[in-house]
Amino acid sequence: MINQFFRKKDVGAMLREAGGANGGLKRSLTTSSLVMLGIGAIVGTGIFVITGQAAASYAGPALTISFLISALGCVMAGLCYAEFAAMIPVAGSVYSYSYTTMGELPAWFIGWVLILEYLFACSSVAVGWSGYMLSLLEGWGIYLPYQIITPTFDHLPDGSWVWTGSIINFPAVFIVILVSSFLMGGIKQSAVINNVIVVIKISVILLFIGFGISYIDLSNWQPYIPENTGEFGSFGWSGILRGAGVVFYAFLGFDALSTAAQETRNPQKDMPRGILISLLVCALLYVAVTAVLTGIVNYKELNVTAPIALAIDRAGEGLAWLSPFIKLGAIAGLSSVILVMMLGQSRIYYAISKDGLLPRFFSNIKPERGIPLNATMVACLVTSLIAGLFPLHVLAELVSIGTLMAFTIVCIAIVVLRKTQPHLNRPFKTPFSPFVPLLGAAICIIQMVSLPGSTWLRLILWTVLGMIIYFAYGIKHSKLNKRK
Ligand code: ALA
Repeated sequence: MINQFFRKKDVGAMLREAGGANGGLKRSLTTSSLVMLGIGAIVGTGIFVITGQAAASYAGPALTISFLISALGCVMAGLCYAEFAAMIPVAGSVYSYSYTTMGELPAWFIGWVLILEYLFACSSVAVGWSGYMLSLLEGWGIYLPYQIITPTFDHLPDGSWVWTGSIINFPAVFIVILVSSFLMGGIKQSAVINNVIVVIKISVILLFIGFGISYIDLSNWQPYIPENTGEFGSFGWSGILRGAGVVFYAFLGFDALSTAAQETRNPQKDMPRGILISLLVCALLYVAVTAVLTGIVNYKELNVTAPIALAIDRAGEGLAWLSPFIKLGAIAGLSSVILVMMLGQSRIYYAISKDGLLPRFFSNIKPERGIPLNATMVACLVTSLIAGLFPLHVLAELVSIGTLMAFTIVCIAIVVLRKTQPHLNRPFKTPFSPFVPLLGAAICIIQMVSLPGSTWLRLILWTVLGMIIYFAYGIKHSKLNKRK
């Protein structure tokens, strides 16, 4: 029985499955489309909302340093992702990598955690999108009824759940359905839509940096590292560290790229480049935006939901024309984050179902479009429901713990696989192994430990649900049963 839990999928068999007919998926992505998908997934709520709040509460102008620290942690995990994605270019990402290194039950667990990450990332960003959309509509004098713009339930600080009196957060449901309908048109069409969105959001950010620079008041950068208030995490160096943990959310999404490995033309070369270039471009943009933002507005005033829009207002008449573009850029930007995360979610269902751990229904491919249609529809249904029912703060907390868990496992699995399967063809190698992967894992574990107890409790509940599904279905239907 115990042996069953740790039975491993052979790397060769996995590669053969992904090669040849490629399981029906189409290989159409190149390095540049991967970089665009990466930026599409990464730049979103983090830069448009969280930057201001993190500068105001934790790090002040030194949030630029927080971004660099967080980027370093992500680059370490990104290098490990790149090694795996080039070596085992299949749709299941960390789930598939764990199946070959640690065995079936750990793989199922991590697949289940990935579903948590992508499901809650999509739904939390959809709720954020709803907020920006409503503020744009209100700017035009259009007000929608409370019952269709508010989450149905709220979670109060005393731990209780209440009904808000609303039916559903309709704009959040709407954007998930809209984005899913794009995805159902195939990966090529999705990539084109993503490219258009990325051009819009990057242009808006560059316009902000380019025009904003001349409005910087150097006195706002003094002191660059505000003095610690006496409490850990409240300014000073500890504030910079806490800020790094908070802006980590802004870098999420590069990992979702690895789920597109089976749809990439030359994954051995394109995947590592795609992951690393998109991370570096985003890190540069984030540092520049933070510098301009904290230069125009004093960090103490930045605790608002639309900090970039505030900076533009502060710059005065000269920049007023940029304000609607910023809102449109944010709305477009958040849509592409949902697009790529939805793509990731459906590809994880597909990969798990291919191995028999979820019903075959999920791995049916629509031949003419080359996409897992049923998996995409289920992802749409569940995500839109969750986005419509729950508030942002509950959803966002779950995203971080799921992602950190996935990153930790990827980093450790790299070290394990180098020992257990040293002869595998590794077109890309994480440098300074095991130092870099182990440091990456350590950074993720420290951040996980600092998350609130309630988030851990929800992770445990999610794990229990996953275990019930595995023991009731997966263990009996696993394809590895038939291979014996
Ligand atoms: N990185 C994504 C964002 O900031 C999750 O919205």
